[in-house]
Amino acid sequence: MIISDQGAAGRLQIAIDGPAASGKSTVALGIARRIGLVVVDSGSMYRTVALISMEEGISADDPEALVEIARRVSSSFRLELAEGDTLRVYLGERDVTAEIRSPEVGRSVSPVSEEPGVRAEMVRLQRCLVEGRDAVVEGRDIGTTVLPDAPLKVFLEATSPERTRRRALELEARGVDVDRDQVREEIALRDRIDSSRAVSPLRLAADAVPIDTTDKTAADVVDEIVGLLADKGLIH
Ligand code: CDP
Repeated sequence: MIISDQGAAGRLQIAIDGPAASGKSTVALGIARRIGLVVVDSGSMYRTVALISMEEGISADDPEALVEIARRVSSSFRLELAEGDTLRVYLGERDVTAEIRSPEVGRSVSPVSEEPGVRAEMVRLQRCLVEGRDAVVEGRDIGTTVLPDAPLKVFLEATSPERTRRRALELEARGVDVDRDQVREEIALRDRIDSSRAVSPLRLAADAVPIDTTDKTAADVVDEIVGLLADKGLIH
């Protein structure tokens, strides 16, 4: 697949946003593999800040301490595409891939990512990672805030039961004991906080294409996005 000349901007950057467990990470990896792009999982950055703040006993209502952690995270954060289509997350030499996906981090991440100073630091890091590169970036505010000029923005959605099912399967696959009602409630709570925060809330960018993934496989969604790229003349 060939990426068309992107003109002055020089780069093909794809923004993928959507609520929790809507399939963003899987689809972003699929697109990155298919077209050969850098992939940036912005949620892993907020999760890493939440992990370190938990370890250091910093609460979500201590903004200064959180911003200090965000700065440290941003200076040693690294993503690496590994075998078997996994995106490994490193803080310096420490591999935090599994820890940031724990239910505990899931519960503490939204309050941490509400903090404007944390967001400013993470947005800076995200822009820095994709500077001058073809990339697919996924999160909550990519199309609205991080890459407002991205030539393709999509917003993935799925019903609450389907998102609960996907997240439960993902946790079970990692050996976590799962109570589905609890998973559903935690996803709903996170979506509420993410959608109602003052800075960069989760919402559909005016020029984003909404895709309901409820009855689609990840491969279907990747095909659909690749089709959108071709329709826009961004790849051929
Ligand atoms: O994988 P899942 O959809 O559950 O979440 P994630 O993408 O790993 O994001 C975890 C949390 O980070 C979200 O619930 C948001 O609170 C925060 N986040 C954010 O505020 N902005 C982003 N661009 C990405 C994630």
